[in-house]
Amino acid sequence: MSEEKNDNLREELIRYYDGAERVAKIVDEEVPYPDGKLIVSRTDVKGFITHVNQAFVDMSGYTREELIGANHNILRHPDMPAIAFKGLWDTVEKGEKWQGFVKNLRKDGTYYWVKATVIPNIRNGQLLGYTSVRRKPSRSKIRESEALYATLM
Ligand SMILES: Cc1cc2nc3c(=O)[nH]c(=O)nc-3n(C[C@H](O)[C@H](O)[C@H](O)COP(=O)(O)O)c2cc1C
Repeated sequence: MSEEKNDNLREELIRYYDGAERVAKIVDEEVPYPDGKLIVSRTDVKGFITHVNQAFVDMSGYTREELIGANHNILRHPDMPAIAFKGLWDTVEKGEKWQGFVKNLRKDGTYYWVKATVIPNIRNGQLLGYTSVRRKPSRSKIRESEALYATLM
């Protein structure tokens, strides 16, 4: 019958740290973080996804097959400043835990906020990769992060 309303839809160029680029579909509409869920992923040392739980699959909108082996920047939202991820990588590459608030891009262009904790997986002194566990962020922390990140763009 009627066409879907696409007032919020736009296309935006995302520039990655390594110089790669892609045009992403952006829809300024939040999907609320599901109550009581942990969203978990693991990566290798370079940030390529090696494991995702079902909550990750459900929230990202991608299939497990699309996610495994993909670079974790598949979720990069253009409203996230590069400096936030520099902080993440500088911290975990030193073997330390990083915590922060991240606006993530879903496959359909909408977004969801998470409170992420990224930890290095170290066995017998060897860095094997990283694990990220995400929880529901408070509304006030989301507002704070939005304001802060806007100043860092
Ligand atoms: C374990 C782990 C989890 C990550 N989770 C996310 C995430 O949920 N969203 C995101 O945009 N970047 C995440 N990153 C950071 C990405 O690897 C990447 O640095 C970021 O998306 C920015 O892209 P760029 O570095 O290619 O510019 C994660 C990295 C690691 C090591």
